[in-house]
Amino acid sequence: MMPVTDKLSTERVKKFAEVFTPPGVVFSMILQDGIRSCVADVDKTILDPAVGHGQYPCGELVWKMFFGLDRLNEEFVLRAIKSLHAIDIQPASVEIAKQHMIKTACDAYKFFTGKEFTRTDDARKILDENFICGDSLKIMRDWAAPQQKLF
Ligand SMILES: C[S@@+](CC[C@H](N)C(=O)[O-])C[C@H]1O[C@@H](n2cnc3c(N)ncnc32)[C@H](O)[C@@H]1O
Repeated sequence: MMPVTDKLSTERVKKFAEVFTPPGVVFSMILQDGIRSCVADVDKTILDPAVGHGQYPCGELVWKMFFGLDRLNEEFVLRAIKSLHAIDIQPASVEIAKQHMIKTACDAYKFFTGKEFTRTDDARKILDENFICGDSLKIMRDWAAPQQKLF
């Protein structure tokens, strides 16, 4: 897997607010009421509509694994990844976020169990479905719009 890098310009930072949250802030934010109950449930869906480089879903993945320590196996990690959805308008950021998710899964699994996480191809397939590139404002407006009747 070739790591993707991305160069932020001042214009991009201004136009898209591409400023990323430091890890310490992410970790404490996730433990706030409301979000904590979502990471305590491995299947609870969380959407990050402005995912950047994946700071929040990576943190949420680690906490989901931590809350499931008593039953942590590779299938559990895939379930946790499946519960996390993301959108970003920058294609390179979406790719970086996916790669960070896979690295986080491998590192956290090794840390918690002492074993290698081998299901990286399955993780990648899930992330290709659930981490998408697009304009969240438009996508969420479309989701909210009443479905058109065909007949
Ligand atoms: C302030 S950063 C936050 C990134 C990450 N959530 C974090 O906390 O580190 C905002 C992100 O929103 C993305 N963004 C800006 N406008 C967007 C839009 N209309 N739809 C989707 N993503 C957008 C940017 O590309 C950028 O990655």
